[in-house]
Amino acid sequence: MKARLIASFAASLALLGNCSVSAADADLIKQGEYLARAGDCVACHTAKGGKPFAGGLPMETPIGVIYSTNITPDKTGLGAYSFADFDKAVRHGVAKSGSTLYPAMPYPSYARVSESDMQALYAYFMKGVEPVAQENRASDIPWPLSMRWPLAAWRWMFAPPVADTPEVAGADPVISRGAYLVEGLGHCGACHTPRALTMQEKALSAADGSAFLSGSAPLEGWIAKSLRGDHKDGLGSWSEEQLVQFLKTGRSDRSAVFGGMSDVVVHSMQYMSQDDLTAIARYLKSLPAMDPQNPPHQYDKQVAEALWKGDDSRPGASVYIDNCAACHRTDGHGYTRVFPALAGNPVVQTADATSLINIVLNGGTLPATHTAPSTFTMPAFAWRLSDQEVADVVSFVRGSWGNKGAAVKASDVADLRKNDMHTTSGDDLGQVTQPH
Ligand code: HEC
Ligand code: HEC
Ligand code: HEC
Repeated sequence: MKARLIASFAASLALLGNCSVSAADADLIKQGEYLARAGDCVACHTAKGGKPFAGGLPMETPIGVIYSTNITPDKTGLGAYSFADFDKAVRHGVAKSGSTLYPAMPYPSYARVSESDMQALYAYFMKGVEPVAQENRASDIPWPLSMRWPLAAWRWMFAPPVADTPEVAGADPVISRGAYLVEGLGHCGACHTPRALTMQEKALSAADGSAFLSGSAPLEGWIAKSLRGDHKDGLGSWSEEQLVQFLKTGRSDRSAVFGGMSDVVVHSMQYMSQDDLTAIARYLKSLPAMDPQNPPHQYDKQVAEALWKGDDSRPGASVYIDNCAACHRTDGHGYTRVFPALAGNPVVQTADATSLINIVLNGGTLPATHTAPSTFTMPAFAWRLSDQEVADVVSFVRGSWGNKGAAVKASDVADLRKNDMHTTSGDDLGQVTQPH
């Protein structure tokens, strides 16, 4: 243990080169590293197979593809950035050159980060990250759309003012910390809040309106669903404990992480302290339901009983028995923390069924985390089920065991299949991890 500590200390010293680092500096850098995890900077600023923070990850925007930038302390990255330059980019959305950043960089959320946390982040990016020489890649956006001046107008209209207010006035200190993390560095709303036509999030905080975290349109074939208090398609039936478990390990007795959320768990949430996870969970649980009339899930055992008796007359029932029941079971309860339950699972009942069709077509792997190292895979069914069979089985799952999701059509499946082929036959666009 001691040898490991010394080795890692030596490694950090080597990384820091010749500059001498005081204990206070080292603490600040460590705090900055933790905050960089909370902000998941690595997810967007690292290309597939590339060096951490060296940029180059393609991201789709409505007007074309842009590439994230090198934020290592090399001169091709942030090498020449003062604290003021860094702050201007991260919280205000303005690059050192003076041009406005695309809001694919979630600076409207980061505007919420405190000055002292910004100092820690700066210390980490300057002294704790290995410099990588890698020039930034220009966007593929054609002229005249590539002109950045409309972005300045966008920023002026939609980005909130930078305010050094980590505490929510009058709130419980735990919920207040949760709000700070979720609305700020965690930028959860970048995926989970619906966007207006002009692409800004419809609300940036709980105080800003009930659209906050009420669920997105499909991004990359996945729905970042509602995190509000609704039972049917939100987190109303999750306990604080289940939420903490899900964020830390990617699984709980309710659900298993997939799609864009896997990155969030693997790169960011699993590193959060127990206190911070509790704060995030308690804050999410404080968000009221969009539809207060929505009752909790009532398990209905009729379907399971019919399947037991060999009655597969319901549309989709035979497809379910043949392809799904071995893992998710005829009663829809799955196997806890291995194969997610489908009964009462809010993911299964979202108004838009895109995520479900996608996971049936393409399968998914529950990722390993430090505290839950086993991975489990759901196979892809695109090659063996027709559009109609996929529609039938997804509709079956959405309408069985008391679930109340609407049926889906074969044409919905066909559309998604077409989009899939479109993204996987392109170059590296399939790896885009983010919306916009
Ligand atoms: C959701 C994706 C995403 C996340 C998360 C993200 N960034 Fe960015 N960031 C981008 C993109 C894309 C750009 C380039 C935008 C452009 O070119 O207009 C960028 C630009 C920047 C810039 C400006 C660089 C320059 O050339 O001036 C800095 C600094 C930066 N990010 C730091 C961070 C830090 C620090 C974090 C974590 C706290 C972070 N980013 C998290 C996507 C992201
Ligand atoms: C890159 C986009 C993205 C970001 C950023 C993101 N999420 Fe998600 N999230 C998703 C997607 C997609 C799903 C649906 C897949 C799933 O349920 O695992 C999801 C699902 C979830 C779920 C499970 C909901 C359920 O009913 O199964 C929780 C809880 C959650 N996110 C919390 C958060 C929190 C907290 C943050 C911020 C710290 C966050 N997410 C940031 C994309 C994102
Ligand atoms: C070999 C076991 C296995 C089979 C067979 C299987 N699944 Fe899955 N399923 C899984 C695993 C593992 C996950 C979690 C995947 C992840 O986290 O990416 C999952 C996730 C899901 C989810 C997302 C639920 C959530 O909360 O994560 C749905 C919906 C689903 N499966 C439906 C089906 C349907 C419908 C079928 C049949 C067409 C099926 N599955 C067949 C193992 C299986």
